[in-house]
Parts: sequence; structure tokens; C-alpha cells
Amino acid sequence: MENIILEMRNITKTFPGVKALSNVNLKVQKGEIHALVGENGAGKSTLMKVLSGVYPAGSYEGDIVYEGDVRNFKVLKDSEEIGIVIIHQELALVPQLSIAENIFLGNEVASNGIIRWDEAFAKAKELLTKVGLKESPETLVTDIGVGKQQLVEIAKAFSKSVKLLILDEPTASLNEKDSDALLNLLMEFRNQGLTSIIITHKLNEVRKVADHITVLRDGMTVDTLDCHTQEISEDIIIKNMVGRELADRYPPRSVPIGETILEVKNWNAFHQQHRDRQVLHDININVRKGEVVGIAGLMGAGRTEFAMSVFGRSYGHKISGEVLMDGKAVDVSTVRRAIDAGLAYVTEDRKVLGLVLNDNIVHNTTLANLQGVSRATVIDSFEEARVATDYRSKLRIRSSGIFQEAVNLSGGNQQKVVLSKWLFSNPDLLILDEPTRGIDVGAKYEIYSIINQLAADGKGVLMISSEMPELLGTCDRIYVMNEGRIVAELPKEQASQETIMRAIMRSGEKK
Ligand SMILES: Nc1ncnc2c1ncn2[C@@H]1O[C@H](COP(=O)(O)OP(=O)(O)OP(=O)(O)O)[C@@H](O)[C@H]1O
Ligand SMILES: [Mg+2]
Repeated sequence: MENIILEMRNITKTFPGVKALSNVNLKVQKGEIHALVGENGAGKSTLMKVLSGVYPAGSYEGDIVYEGDVRNFKVLKDSEEIGIVIIHQELALVPQLSIAENIFLGNEVASNGIIRWDEAFAKAKELLTKVGLKESPETLVTDIGVGKQQLVEIAKAFSKSVKLLILDEPTASLNEKDSDALLNLLMEFRNQGLTSIIITHKLNEVRKVADHITVLRDGMTVDTLDCHTQEISEDIIIKNMVGRELADRYPPRSVPIGETILEVKNWNAFHQQHRDRQVLHDININVRKGEVVGIAGLMGAGRTEFAMSVFGRSYGHKISGEVLMDGKAVDVSTVRRAIDAGLAYVTEDRKVLGLVLNDNIVHNTTLANLQGVSRATVIDSFEEARVATDYRSKLRIRSSGIFQEAVNLSGGNQQKVVLSKWLFSNPDLLILDEPTRGIDVGAKYEIYSIINQLAADGKGVLMISSEMPELLGTCDRIYVMNEGRIVAELPKEQASQETIMRAIMRSGEKK
């Protein structure tokens, strides 16, 4: 017999100018892992915010039935009190506080208003053991990686006696190993009776853990697939998500490769805070016109540090080395100078470095190239709007219009705006750092097509990605980086997951 813990019936949610959800239905069985998938802007996060009371009863239509009763949550606390805990797309930990402080933030272990820290630490230790973290509860959150931060969020959920755990893209910024660990943990908890809803764009993960998959498209429920009675392939999921077959994941490209456009020579840099620690060692790389070059490596290999140190010394200390564009040494000592030298850098962290959240799509798009929309130093707002409209349709940004504020866009659509901004800056060399993180499969294809177009126009592209299939599917050549050094250079023909991993392992052994 069916044992339903949650049913969301005919949920409709409207924002000014956008119907984010229309008559959505979701049925979740007790003790299962239920995946929620759909394109960027399909309404996944909104549905979960309705469920958890972030959007209170009265602000949406339809019913939430949880453990047999219709619920009207006014605030997040109301849903938490009966066991529904949500971990949001953007982690909400305070970096400068300890793990224990983060776990109990907002629900402190207190008596008569006095926090009992000894008890809190002991409880934290217990929760950390439960999620497989060996760190001391006193460790600062800033000192552990994102993978572990995600586990702290789960420990925090357990401190609230969770029955239904909601994870919104928990593995988006995790590498394969950390993602696996997290998914295994979820499956272990399933054995103990926990119900979870997981949102992810990584379809292999869905296949690995899900008992049911609900697909949303344009704010509507398309279908709920049962993974136990049907063979669910990634193609079936994609077809439900985008409404059509997607023949290839990577668009074909045959661009003649030209002269060297970017050369970085003998690049060294030291850690921003720990100033005697060298993080980049003698890096030499080049990119030619029409070429897409990848940098593979594990988390912490130094790839982002490298890109940022080259792009206007945005990272590092005691940086030395040379950057040449078209064979001539260029000054990249500030972001402005790097842009003037023809470089652009699409950051992996859109919230911190990529977007002005409380500004609209138009201004975010033109920010890095105001000259491009100005007549004699005066910004032409018609031209600005035209440019933004153009990118919005090219990248299929889902929003109520070009004047929607970035903060109200779905995660994947924010990433597309960041990308528009740097494309419009019309760089000769574009550095992309995890460009498709949080982007749905269909939109990934669009982004790869744009990369191909850039290459066809004779530009160079340097791409950092943790998704190896993506590097293998799009790059002409791949550098492998480990512990701040380039440890291999592989032309497309020689590159495979295996050769890349072998290069990393071998360089680790040498030391
Ligand atoms: N506060 C808001 N104000 C206006 N529109 C909003 C707001 N929040 C979400 N939207 C819109 O609602 C739609 C659904 O957004 P939602 O964040 O739920 O998408 P999503 O499926 O989670 O996408 P992603 O995979 O990119 O995270 C989008 O078109 C988004 O722009
Ligand atoms: Mg979302």
C-alpha cells in the first residue's frame, strides 16, 4: 500500500509578471528519495520554498498535505517544527563561525537564555559523526571545503529532528568523490526511514539514488517516473524535461586553429593569506586562435587561483611571470587592464564576483563594456536594452523581462546573465570557470554552441571544469593541473578520463 508523507496539490504561485508554478502536483512516499528535475527556471526551488513556508500560506494557491493534514505554514519555523527541513541552493552557513555555532544558530541549546556550550559541542560532535565528518565542532566553517560544508548543513538538519529533508542542488559545487559520499549518505539515511527530496541537474545522480522522479517544465508537472517499475535512462529524463529529444550533448565543431593568442609564462603565485605558501608553480600554458583549451584537475588543484591571478591579480600575492597576447607582453595587473588587454573571466562564484544582485538584467549585462552601449561617453539606454534583449534570447534566459532584478532569477538563469556580461565585453580570450555549474542539459548545449561560435570567430577559450565529460566533449587540448602545477598536456586524441586521472595520480606519487 502507498504510504504518502507529502502531497502538494494544484500549487500555483505567481510573482509580478511571472507564473512560476501552475497547478503543480507532487506526491512523495514515506522513506523514499524523490528527485525533482527540470530546466532552469522550471520552478523547482520555488516549489520547495512553498513547501517549507518561505512563501507563506496565502501567497500561493493549492494545498500542502503533510502526514495526512493540510498545512498552512506562515514561516520556515512552522515547517521545521514538524520535521521538514530545507537546505537551500546557496549554502547559508556563516564562514567565520565554528561548525557547532553554525549547527545551533537559530536553535541554540539554552536554558534560561544562557547557551550551554559544553552540551552544544557534545551534541554537535554526535551529529557530525552521524554524517561522517571527523572535524572538531570548533573548526571554523571557512576552513573546510564545500563538500564538508554541505555535510554540516545536513548535520544541522538533524539537529532539528528532520523527517523530510529537502536538498536543492546539493552537489552542484562538489567534485565527484564528495558528491558520491553525499549520495551514499542519503541512501544510508533512506534505510533508516528518512524521506528526502533532491533537486539536481546531474542526471547520473538521479539514476543512482531516486525512487521516483518528478519532472517540472515551465512551472507545470510533466510526469512522475517510477524508477522501480520502469527502466529510466538519462534520455528519457531529458525528453521529459525539454519536451523533445536531445540528439547530442555536445555540438560538433571544426574550426581551423591559428596563431597563438594567449601565452602565460613561468607563472608563480603565493597564497593570499598564508603568505609564505606558494600555490602556483612555474605554470606555462598557451591558447591559440580558434582553440578551446581545458584545464582539468581535482578540487583544490589551483585552477581558479591561476585564472584569477592572471585576470587582474584578483587572487594571490607575490605573483610573478609574464602574460603575452598575440606575442606581445601585456599588463594584467588590474581587472581593468586585463579587460583592456582582451581578457575576460567568467567566475565560478556568481554570487560574489559575477553579479550585482539588486540590479536588473540590462545593467548586469553591459557592466563590463559600457563603451559598447555609449555614444560619446553617454550611455544609450535603448542600445543597452537592445543588447540585453539580444543575449536574453540567445541564451534563453527565463525571466519576466530584461528589467527583472538578478536576485529574483533562478540559479541557472543568474549564471546565464554572468555569461552574457562577459560575452558582451567581446574578449579575445575568454576564461570560463565552471561555466555550466547549475545549468540544465538543454542550456548547456546552448553554451557550448556559443563557445564554438567564439572559436569560429578566431577567439581563444580557456575552460576550467570539474566535469570531465564536458572537457572531453568540448576541448581541443587539455592541460592537467595538480597541486599548483601543470602535470600533463593532452591533445584531444589522447585525452580520456583515464589519461587525465593517471596524470594526476602520477604527479602525486612523484613527490
Ligand atoms: N522572488 C521572485 N520574484 C520574481 N520572480 C521569481 C522570484 N523567484 C523566482 N522567480 C521566477 O520564477 C521562475 C522559477 O524559478 P525557480 O528559482 O523556482 O527555478 P528553478 O527550477 O529552481 O531553476 P534553476 O534550475 O535555475 O535553479 C523563474 O522564472 C524565476 O525567474
Ligand atoms: Mg533552483
